[in-house]
Amino acid sequence: MKVRLEARSGLGVIVIDHPPVNAISADVVAQLGQALDAWEARTELAALVIACDGRTFAAGGDIAGFDRPDFSPAPFNGILARIEAQARPVVAALHGSVLGGGFELALACHGRVAADGTRFGFPEVQLGLLPGSLGTQRLPRLVGPELALDLISSGRTLGSAAALAAGIVDRVVPDALAGAIALGEEWVRTHCSLRRLSVVRIAPDEKLSRRLEAAAAEACDRQPSNPAAVAIVRAVQASLLPFAEGEAIEASLFEALRTSPQSQSLRHLFFARRSTWKIPGLSRDIRHRELHSIGVLGAGTMGRGIAMNFLNAGLPTRLVDASQAALDTAVSIIRSLYEASAAKGRISGTEVAARMALLHTDLGDAALADCDLVVEAVYEDFALKQRVCERLGALCRPDAIIATNTSTLDVDRLAAATGRPRDVVGMHFFSPAHVMKLLEVVRGRETAHDVLATVMALARRIGKTAVVSGVCYGFIGNRMAEVYMREAEFLLMEGASPAQVDAAVEALGMAMGPCRMLDLAGVDVGARTVIEYAKSGGLPPDASYRALVRALYESGRHGQKTGAGYYRYEGRTALPDPETERISIELAARHGIARRPAIDEREIVERLLYPMINEGAKILEEGIACRGSDIDVVWTAGYGFPAQRGGPLFMADSIGLHEVAQRLQHYAKARGNPHGYWTTSPLLDKLSVEGRRISSCERPR
Ligand code: 3HC
Ligand code: NAI
Repeated sequence: MKVRLEARSGLGVIVIDHPPVNAISADVVAQLGQALDAWEARTELAALVIACDGRTFAAGGDIAGFDRPDFSPAPFNGILARIEAQARPVVAALHGSVLGGGFELALACHGRVAADGTRFGFPEVQLGLLPGSLGTQRLPRLVGPELALDLISSGRTLGSAAALAAGIVDRVVPDALAGAIALGEEWVRTHCSLRRLSVVRIAPDEKLSRRLEAAAAEACDRQPSNPAAVAIVRAVQASLLPFAEGEAIEASLFEALRTSPQSQSLRHLFFARRSTWKIPGLSRDIRHRELHSIGVLGAGTMGRGIAMNFLNAGLPTRLVDASQAALDTAVSIIRSLYEASAAKGRISGTEVAARMALLHTDLGDAALADCDLVVEAVYEDFALKQRVCERLGALCRPDAIIATNTSTLDVDRLAAATGRPRDVVGMHFFSPAHVMKLLEVVRGRETAHDVLATVMALARRIGKTAVVSGVCYGFIGNRMAEVYMREAEFLLMEGASPAQVDAAVEALGMAMGPCRMLDLAGVDVGARTVIEYAKSGGLPPDASYRALVRALYESGRHGQKTGAGYYRYEGRTALPDPETERISIELAARHGIARRPAIDEREIVERLLYPMINEGAKILEEGIACRGSDIDVVWTAGYGFPAQRGGPLFMADSIGLHEVAQRLQHYAKARGNPHGYWTTSPLLDKLSVEGRRISSCERPR
């Protein structure tokens, strides 16, 4: 049973027990109905308390249930109406995270008592939804439409003290259940009149109506691709109407959002982000290695950002570099970043001092001998990294973990160089490493289970979105980015402009098109990677491959930092540059690439995204990614892929795998399929024929 009725001190207590977060599923709704039947029959019980077992009060409606075609909030709304209509007092006993449908359940009660530390909020907006069980109608009647709109639109949570101040809860106590029973008894004793929010009318107010209308206009303007933003304002506006009218408006807005592609994508990502922590074959009970101190070797761009992650988490960190100047620069940049955070009020001055006190720098690597985990972040040069790994293997304690931040090199070969490959793992941070959420955790052929589990737990501790990848060139993200960049460059050589290429994918919601992205990341960084990869024999034997990035690099156009790359820059403003066009024309002539007067947007989008989706399918079938949804997490967390499209594989499912496969075949014919660039992956073909989805596909075993 997920819901039960108990009798305690002459009161009834309905308890929801549906781990892990008491999500309100269809079963819970049905059983709540049965528990209410039982309570209504027990007329000797003077009042009712609604509480939850476990770590939290209900943290929302069951998000998985929203995918059911026949989902409707009506049954739950009916339960809420029954609760509110009770003649005997009903009090909610709240603890943990009172979110979404859980908050709506609490609002239907006559009173609310919260334990210290309880948090309240409506996170539905993050799922592209609005509260669909009358949260948009009852909350404005309790705290006023403007605070309600702020809370529902932002999805932010309030702590128990703020909830008390806003009148959301009646009392905050150490023990919510005892407090709710006490309040129920008190109301019975005093014959307190019961507050039913649905009968409250919000006084008409011209100024308020104008402010709400302005909020709707602003939501349209600022978030045109987010239908939830404006729907939330419309629903809150409807709270000024009689309750039944508002209820109907909320229901129709909710249904439109629930079935929208944006919300379906965001719901996919909700579960996708939580799945990345589940690693096939790795027991949850595995004992982790202890991490008390961290070493970072290489204090350049990445090393100093990586170190900040550990300092932020309170871990003593030794930063080591061969150059004193690099160490001095790193310390000064880290300090100034912390001071800037303090100036913005994000951390206190004491916190700045505490974090800096955890940072130690050294010129000699002997200082790493005592660290529990060392991340190497020296230049991306195989011979150098091999030497460094050899040295770390000999130097580090036998139980220490050795991690490499390489973006492209073979982690298995680096692991072998340490002489203790079981202790080695890749930790591929993204730049800037103290800001970017994504961390690819690269599992080598011999990485020990406890090493992987320890590093995943560390990733959680430092607030990263971690995804496990197998070993291959570029891991999950950069391997897919490579084909994306390949096609971007061919399109430029064929006659498209950087602005046209960027605009086509930015219109889909990509944070930045490929040309602007590489200009920002550094054309030199991109080109050097391609050159290194070519040396290792990994690139197709084709001089036209990524010829443009190499030519830009050789002509000193390293991107924004040198004032020119694919674009030329005035400050940070990217402007078209005839020099890029000249270089593209010259390369096209040299490599026999036909220029075309016009390339349409459809072709640009398909040529950038479909090979990337195809590469994702190969990554999945090779077992590099554990599941399709992991690939979506990598691209939405690390590469600016729009969350409202769910990631490249979810987008492929939305388009239809059959259509994607057909268009790949079309380009294979149209472009002659050099080096098998357009050959569809067997997995993509198989799923397309079977009518299955790739974003929910687990790695074939
Ligand atoms: N529905 C279904 N499953 C849920 C869920 C929900 N609302 N909330 C959490 N879960 C699941 C997670 O998928 C995860 O499952 P797993 O263990 O199998 O991976 C498990 O519960 C634990 O979740 P977390 O890993 O996120 O646990 P944390 O302790 O880190 O966080 C939390 C707990 C703060 C409650 C967090 O889970 C959370 O924010 N949940 C989402 C809350 C939410 O969005 N609520 C609104 C839902 S929409 C709604 O209510 C509409 C209504 O108006 C009709
Ligand atoms: P960087 O050039 O900024 O810094 C490298 C640092 O390593 C320098 O300070 C150098 O003095 C130091 N170093 C070199 N050899 C050393 C040695 N033997 N002992 C001690 N210190 C040594 O390089 P960056 O950009 O920080 O890259 C480092 C690593 O991070 C590379 O593997 C790179 O591929 C990876 N990476 C880089 C990203 C980026 O955007 N820059 C993104 C993700 C990963």
